[in-house]
Amino acid sequence: MDFKQYITVVENFPKEGIRFKDITTLMENGEAYKKAIDEMAEFAKDKDVDVVVGPEARGFVVGCPISYCLGLGFVPVRKSGKLPREVLGVDYGLEYGKDSLNIHKDSIKPGQRVLITDDLLATGGTIEATIQMVEELGGVVAGIAFMIELSYLDGRSKLGKYDVFTLMTY
Ligand code: PRP
Repeated sequence: MDFKQYITVVENFPKEGIRFKDITTLMENGEAYKKAIDEMAEFAKDKDVDVVVGPEARGFVVGCPISYCLGLGFVPVRKSGKLPREVLGVDYGLEYGKDSLNIHKDSIKPGQRVLITDDLLATGGTIEATIQMVEELGGVVAGIAFMIELSYLDGRSKLGKYDVFTLMTY
């Protein structure tokens, strides 16, 4: 399937010069959304994954249905102040801004194999922070799956040693 036909490119959002890749138009199409999730889940099938991890908010849109497809649990990574129990946190830089990300300290057990998912790889800051947290908790990154990769921002250079899958590249 040509998934790109379901993505809307919005000029100058959220600020001047950014060409925002809007996945909501893909999500609104049941067939395209299902096929996208199925292909991402397929990538993970032979990786002996124990748990799926994804950063809010669009990472949930991708990671939760993948975890459901695989019959696995889902661990949320959230922006600071959102998770109620003891967290591990790391600061990270975004394509446009800065924040910190948190994960529940007891959410991943040492040695567990983790599939990390997100809608978009841009600068790679979000995923790099997510990997750091997973590994600090003793998890093993079994693979990383994105819907979209913005190759011109070279986030991939931060992910050299990992097994990375992307559905669409711009
Ligand atoms: C977006 C996107 C990725 C991240 C990619 O999330 O969903 O998580 O940015 O950018 P990076 O590779 O440069 O880190 P955002 O932080 O805008 O949050 P949202 O999903 O809640 O909209």
